[in-house]
Amino acid sequence: MNEPIRVENLQPLDQPYLMDEAQLADYEASYRNDYHAWAQVLGENVERIRRGSYSLHWLNTDGGNWGKRAKPSSRGLTYTDINRVRGYGDIPQRADWFNFAPRGSIREPYRDRMPVVTDYVVTNRDELWADNVITLYEEAKARQWNATKDIPWHELEALPEDLEKATCQLCTFLTEVEFVAGDFPAKWLYRTPQDFLEVKSFLATQLMDEARHQEVFRKRAIAGGGLLHASPGFEWALKAILDAPSHTMGTFLLNLLGEGLVLSVFRSGEMIAKTQVDKEIFRRCLQDEARHVSYGVLELKNYLATHPQREQGIEEMHRFADVGEQVILTAFTEAALIEPVAVLLGGGLKHIDKGMEGLAHMWRMFIDEYLQRCASAGFDRRARCTIPLDLPWGVAK
Ligand SMILES: [Fe+2]
Ligand SMILES: [Fe+2]
Repeated sequence: MNEPIRVENLQPLDQPYLMDEAQLADYEASYRNDYHAWAQVLGENVERIRRGSYSLHWLNTDGGNWGKRAKPSSRGLTYTDINRVRGYGDIPQRADWFNFAPRGSIREPYRDRMPVVTDYVVTNRDELWADNVITLYEEAKARQWNATKDIPWHELEALPEDLEKATCQLCTFLTEVEFVAGDFPAKWLYRTPQDFLEVKSFLATQLMDEARHQEVFRKRAIAGGGLLHASPGFEWALKAILDAPSHTMGTFLLNLLGEGLVLSVFRSGEMIAKTQVDKEIFRRCLQDEARHVSYGVLELKNYLATHPQREQGIEEMHRFADVGEQVILTAFTEAALIEPVAVLLGGGLKHIDKGMEGLAHMWRMFIDEYLQRCASAGFDRRARCTIPLDLPWGVAK
């Protein structure tokens, strides 16, 4: 009989150094299974090359949109400009190309011979479309900045220890949240078919923005004293975002609620930031987050406005929000977030109570903005909001 499994008997598993042998074997088997499809293409090409002849089929423009030239506008050549050219700008309601063939290319004759990427599961345009997505993409490209060179790091002043620790703890929190803000769009970017290329492009800028935010807060902490405490309350909130069952639902939690809070914190940068360096960091991050929030609001609006069963769509969003708001609340009430913010607002550990008063004001402003964002998306949460409108504990009057 086998030994009973006890914790003390457990041995660590051997970690494969690079790749599991079984994974490579699966890959080989998969491509051998599809051999008839790709080997036929390869065989035809090899045979033609051996014959010394050319195909030149790509010169034939039948079924394509050849010769209709895009014209730049005053901003340059945007997606909107090229989408005006007939044959390129029709964003399908339902995507049915699950490979990499570009929208508007001559692809129909090859449909049956192409592979299918089964991970492309976001087939409905209204699961991720927002009417401002092209404009936001342009803005995102124009406003990229560099956390290495655009922040005046040489001017970073030393702060009294309580304010330095509070700043570094806030930066630790922000570092922790910024990567989920990147992982969430990354997860859905990868699941989105190529025909929704405008949204994929915007999500790619969001990924870059969040990588830069994580970078700048990490650098700020390490340049000022160090990273401080990670926190279970943040982690559960972040996981709830990542696990959201649909892109729209997760975007609601991340962009409207989570980033809405972060936006309120950054907007209070003048009071929270204790150095010019911190003010500059908050100012730059604020611009980026405003784009993400703006996308989230219009995505939710479009989702609800185009939902074939609107009432049911709204009720499903409420059910999701009932859970999501509560989980996000676990982050908003974490001592590792609100206490350092209160210390910064108050101007020192001695003034934490005074800072809490400022925080109570910020909280009301934040919840109010959140509810306004929901309302402008056509999603009235006022009667159902599970986050208290006032700070959920008595603080100094
Ligand atoms: Fe961010
Ligand atoms: Fe963001």
